[in-house]
This record gives sequence, C-alpha cells and structure tokens, in this order.
Amino acid sequence: MKGIILAAGRGTRLYPMTKPVCKPLLPIYDKPLIYYPLSMLMQAGIREVLVIVPPGEVSAFQSLLGDGGHLGMHISFAVQPVAKGIADALLIGREFVGTDNVCLVLGDNLFYAPDFAQVMKSAVKSNQGATVFGYYVEDPRPFGVVEFDENWNVLSLAEKPQEPKSNYIVPGVYFYDNQVMEIAAGLKPSARGELEITDVNLGYLARKQLRVIPLSRQTQWMDAGTADSLLDAAQTIREIQTHTGSQVGCIEELAYQEGWITAETLYALGEAMKTTYYGRHLMAFSRLFSAPCEKSPEVR
Ligand code: G1P
Repeated sequence: MKGIILAAGRGTRLYPMTKPVCKPLLPIYDKPLIYYPLSMLMQAGIREVLVIVPPGEVSAFQSLLGDGGHLGMHISFAVQPVAKGIADALLIGREFVGTDNVCLVLGDNLFYAPDFAQVMKSAVKSNQGATVFGYYVEDPRPFGVVEFDENWNVLSLAEKPQEPKSNYIVPGVYFYDNQVMEIAAGLKPSARGELEITDVNLGYLARKQLRVIPLSRQTQWMDAGTADSLLDAAQTIREIQTHTGSQVGCIEELAYQEGWITAETLYALGEAMKTTYYGRHLMAFSRLFSAPCEKSPEVR
C-alpha cells in the first residue's frame, strides 16, 4: 500500500503565522505538524509516501524530510497548484499510486491511541474497497458525518450537514483500493468548488464497499486548523508525552520499531539533535531496545 499526505493547505486561517511558513511545517509542541500524519502512515507499515505541498514549498519540506532514506523510506513530493479539494490529491497521486492500494491522510489531522498502530495495521490488512474511521464529537457540523444502524453498518454520509444524523464524523485518514482512481476521476466539484472526499466515500457506499470503523473512546483526534486548535493539539501532545513517558509522532523511533533502520542509525539521528530532549530520547531509545534490525533495510 502507498501513502499520500495532503499537506497543501497554506493555512490562511492561521495568518500571520503561516505567511512565511506553511501550516504543515508549524510546530505542534516539540515537532513539526507534518510528523504526525507521517507517523500515522508509518504505523500502518507504509514506506512509500507522496507528500503534496503548496506551490513553492517543495524545498522547505525536502530540507525537513529529505527523500526519507534516513528513515528507510521513500518520500517524494508533488504540488497542488490550486486548492481543489481533498479528492484532488488522489488525482495528483495517480501515477505514484499506480495499480496499488492507497492510504490518504490529511496533513493537519493528529491521532493518539495506545493501540493506534494496531488499528492502522488491521485497517490495511482487512481493507477491501474503502475503510475509514468514525469518531464521536460534540458538534459534527463542520465535518463529514456518518450515520450507522445498530450493527454499525453505514446508512448515510454527508459533508458538513446543517442537521447531522449522528455525532460520528469521518476524520482525515482514508484507505482505498485501486477503484478509487476511477471514482475520483468521475467526481464533479461541490457547491464550495471542491472535489469532496465524502463524494469518494459515497461512491464506495453506492458499491456497498465502504467500511467505517468506530474509533474507541481512548482515541484522541485533533485537527490543527485554527490558532486555538493548534494550541490545544500542542498542549494535548505535551500532556500525553509527559504522562506516558512515550513520544507521539516520533518518526525516527517508529522507523526503528518497524525494522526499517538499525539501532546505530537511530542513535546517530538522535545524536545530531542531542541538545534537545527529542534527540536524547532517540539516543536512549536506541540503547534500550537495541535488537538487531531484522527486516531488510530496503523499501518493500
Ligand atoms: C475535511 C473533509 C471532512 C472531514 C475533515 C476532517 O473537511 O471534507 O469530511 O471530516 O476534513 O478533518 P475540511 O478540512 O475540508 O473542512
């Protein structure tokens, strides 16, 4: 399965912060926002990732992530010239995805759950058609909303409904088989002029191939679209890290856990940042669990 991160939002709702630096590069507590969606794909076991960025920003992202080689991954970049909607990312990534399946994540969505890697891996393993998640919120109106029957079968989906039929929203992580290319190519822009991801999901629902997995109440989902939600996300990440003693969105640690880099590489990555807690955490982690790298360092 391939991964796509749609990180093309300039972040105009965060001006003036995002005038010189686009939103996915802003910090969420101790690391850039883009680390969190990247870590979600890594937890799904995905090593080949296309990052879609705003015009003029490829070199900034490259200076942060390189080609992913230091993580045992392949990371490439593409530009979304005009903000034409989330489903447009699938069309931009058409060649990259080829005949494969794909997991699309939004560049401003963050998740935390103790078992999140398991949740992501089982979604990859069992995906037929489309798999998305359902997450309970108090006010679902600004999101894609899913209605279930009593057996958690999907009855309906609606994008930003005035009168939502449930409190379950579909957050920004979507698993699709290759039919998605044909479905996305047939979409028409919505009233807000965008190719809606909810319309892609409705396409799968019409084919009876949409599965929505309700996320457990232990799961925390955050988006970082406004100054308040950015600060809330940063505080939540700090609390989780302080409380659990573990890192959220730590891509180097995950690369090691997945067996994509060796303990020595992890140590060296940490050493290059040893003036920070983050760097020292990587160095300590490599010593704690210095099992040999079992899997091939080559991208699968
Ligand atoms: C988008 C999607 C919506 C989804 C949300 C999650 O909303 O259209 O279905 O629930 O992301 O963050 P937007 O960010 O375009 O308002």
